[in-house]
Amino acid sequence: MNTIALIGAQWGDEGKGKYIDILASSADYVVRATGGSNAGHTVVRGDKAYKLHLIPSGILYPDTVNIIGNGVVLDPQMVLAEMDELAAMGVKFDNLLIDLRAHIVLPYHKEFDELAEIAKGVNAIGTTKRGIGPCYADKCDRIGIRLVDLLDENTFAQKLKQNLQLKNKIITAVYGGKPLDYDEIYTEYCGYAKRLQPFARDTGALLYDAVKADKRVVFEGAQGTLLDLDSGTYPFVTSSHPITGGFCAGAGVGPTAIKECLGIAKSYTTRVGAGPFPTELDDEVGNHLRDVGHEYGVTTGRARRCGWLDTVILRLAVRINGLTALAINKLDPLTGLKTIKVAVGYELNGKILKDFPADISILERCTPIYEEFEGWTEDITACRRFEDLPKAAQRYVLAIEKLVDCPVTMIGVGPDKEQNIVR
Ligand code: GDP
Ligand code: IMO
Ligand code: MG
Repeated sequence: MNTIALIGAQWGDEGKGKYIDILASSADYVVRATGGSNAGHTVVRGDKAYKLHLIPSGILYPDTVNIIGNGVVLDPQMVLAEMDELAAMGVKFDNLLIDLRAHIVLPYHKEFDELAEIAKGVNAIGTTKRGIGPCYADKCDRIGIRLVDLLDENTFAQKLKQNLQLKNKIITAVYGGKPLDYDEIYTEYCGYAKRLQPFARDTGALLYDAVKADKRVVFEGAQGTLLDLDSGTYPFVTSSHPITGGFCAGAGVGPTAIKECLGIAKSYTTRVGAGPFPTELDDEVGNHLRDVGHEYGVTTGRARRCGWLDTVILRLAVRINGLTALAINKLDPLTGLKTIKVAVGYELNGKILKDFPADISILERCTPIYEEFEGWTEDITACRRFEDLPKAAQRYVLAIEKLVDCPVTMIGVGPDKEQNIVR
């Protein structure tokens, strides 16, 4: 079997886009299976940066089939706008397929996302306001509208009418908002349906045959392990399963279809949105990481919160995702720091916690236990072999490998796909 799942090991934005781009060069299929337009993946080619949200990051290879799986929540307006933008950069979509079972994000999902965040006040999650949570909620509530429904005008009309009656009552009576217009949405979305029709397919069946034929399949993770609905920092999470287990439900494959599981982690930690973050740095080191690492959201433009690497989190990611390898990305922004700290455990009331707590109020009160490492000053962005890295950088990577008990097989030293070390 020739399949690999790539997953974010932290709170997202680990550089998954770059690694998908690396893996896609030899892939027959690249498959997105979870999340929606909340994702923002960057693929850098020379002086061009491609910002991908719903389109899989293997799209630049015309011979690689790129699949948006059934577990993705598809915003037709966003995906078509993204395609138009990419088309203007010369990208073609003959190699794109979208699963018929993917749920559709509708205007009321985005409205609800916005209104629910306002209603939560100081407890707001800091969502991307892309309607992700409300769309998955409708899916679980069995009132969602799928691509297969959108493509049939009668089914779409009936489902939209029924949903909108209920949604408008909640928007007006509960939130005091303005009702949405049925005709407007119906006409707009029928237009999207026409444009999406050529891409619609039962991709689960196609993938089954591909795996059987020993094709190279790369499963593209979105978000990150700590944003997982079950295992993350609930409720400050997204509404899907951005872990390797999520690929099975979201791509329509069995667990035996996934051979390798590669986790992507940054050499430090970032997070966008609210919620606990034990190693967060509200000082000049945090500012250094944000400035040098250009830590600003691809989707919302928000400044990312920055902090030291946390191996309690990475151990959780190794365990939950069954990682067979880890890439330590963005090692270069650490250059110039005199000392580098890594959290190896948490302390609470004199007790040491080795594992990530389920209770976020405990997490909020924990103090990280740090190990300190010597920094380096040499520019590492041109290093292509592990031996080329300064000794202090080598020691840092080897220490992480030991602390998380997972082989570090790749190290990122810059945004371009060439700026990568394979061990
Ligand atoms: P994703 O959501 O996991 O795909 O990551 P994002 O694209 O949201 O954020 C990663 C950012 O870091 C992007 O701007 C990348 O171009 C950039 N990047 C990726 N790898 C490296 C690296 O090794 N070094 C540096 N300095 N930047 C990188
Ligand atoms: P990629 O794929 C970082 C965060 C949001 C918020 C929480 C819930 O680029 O790594 P949502 O809109 O999903 O309901 O928001 O999840 N979030 C991300 N943070 N990278 C992402 O994707 C994210 N997708 C969602 O900031 O805290
Ligand atoms: Mg991102």
